[in-house]
Amino acid sequence: MQQQTNNLVSSNALYSKIILLVFVLMCAVKRSNSFDYFKEKPSFMKSCKLSQPDLTKCSTEAIQKIVKEIMKGVPEFRDVIGSLDPLVLNDIAFKQDGAEAVNILIGLSTLIIKDMSRVQVVESRVHRNDLSFLLKLHMPELRLTGHYKLDGRILLLSLKTEGEMAIDLEDVNITTLIKTDLFGRDGYTFYNVTKVQNDINIGKLKAKFDNLFGGRNKDLERSILTSINENWREFFEVLRPSTTNVTNQITFDLLHKICLRIPAKYFLEDIPTPKQFHENISSNTL
Ligand SMILES: *[C@@H]1O[C@H](CO)[C@@H](O)[C@H](O)[C@H]1NC(C)=O
Ligand SMILES: *[C@@H]1O[C@H](CO)[C@@H](O)[C@H](O)[C@H]1NC(C)=O
Ligand SMILES: *[C@@H]1O[C@H](CO)[C@@H](O)[C@H](O)[C@H]1NC(C)=O
Ligand SMILES: *[C@@H]1O[C@H](CO)[C@@H](O)[C@H](O)[C@H]1NC(C)=O
Repeated sequence: MQQQTNNLVSSNALYSKIILLVFVLMCAVKRSNSFDYFKEKPSFMKSCKLSQPDLTKCSTEAIQKIVKEIMKGVPEFRDVIGSLDPLVLNDIAFKQDGAEAVNILIGLSTLIIKDMSRVQVVESRVHRNDLSFLLKLHMPELRLTGHYKLDGRILLLSLKTEGEMAIDLEDVNITTLIKTDLFGRDGYTFYNVTKVQNDINIGKLKAKFDNLFGGRNKDLERSILTSINENWREFFEVLRPSTTNVTNQITFDLLHKICLRIPAKYFLEDIPTPKQFHENISSNTL
């Protein structure tokens, strides 16, 4: 028995080594032919200047243009960020504990987000002092579908089940604060996105979860869904911290990757060098 266990352990170890090796090889192959950064300004970029008085107007138009192209699919970004409409995410966890009435863990093995390409950039404000951004985005509609796993308690009901879910959102507003740092590479200045903080507001939410009680109690399932949909604001507030958290991680990842591939001067022609920027930041805070 002991022998058998050892065999199992060592074959597992061998197996993980092989997986690791394959992974490393895949990364090496991918890196060798992957796109680095735009050496020339791509046509989908409009440049602005920090010194121009109507910077917010210019930057709003510029960001709208970039967002539109990226949503359509920029070939150079295909390997880097994949498709954004639909955006397919895996293994996301929404956790809500501590609250009195609700104690749930919702795991989404897949989440498909549709209609993000209809995003409107309402405003893009560049903060001249630290070069951070404030983006205001509006999406008329957003549809989330996926496979959920639920474990927890709502009021006195204990729930442990899984199934398909769909959530339709309307009038979605996201205000995103993007903190950045600058770094130099090959004589170009790049943005290093260091922090993303989202504030999410929605005008309407409609949720559907099938199989809520393992399909055993359709009446209860219907009344829970009706209650969620009649009280969607409270439902959203309960999930707000983890929704914000997940959204922050997704937007951080996306913006970070995109910014590493676009020299900052294509967006802001008179961007300082990292050295000027760091000297200025430290002298401003003294
Ligand atoms: C330095 O900071 C000042 C005041 O915030 C600003 O007017 C100036 O443009 C900045 N210069 C650079 C190189 O960032
Ligand atoms: C970007 O910022 C992160 C954290 O702030 C830092 O660890 C990383 O080294 C920076 N990257 C570059 C290229 O400067
Ligand atoms: C979303 O923002 C628009 C303005 O851009 C505003 O008219 C609308 O009321 C906002 N909706 C929500 C749910 O915050
Ligand atoms: C937010 O995400 C971090 C890192 O994944 C995690 O440690 C933290 O508990 C999350 N907070 C909430 C409210 O979900």
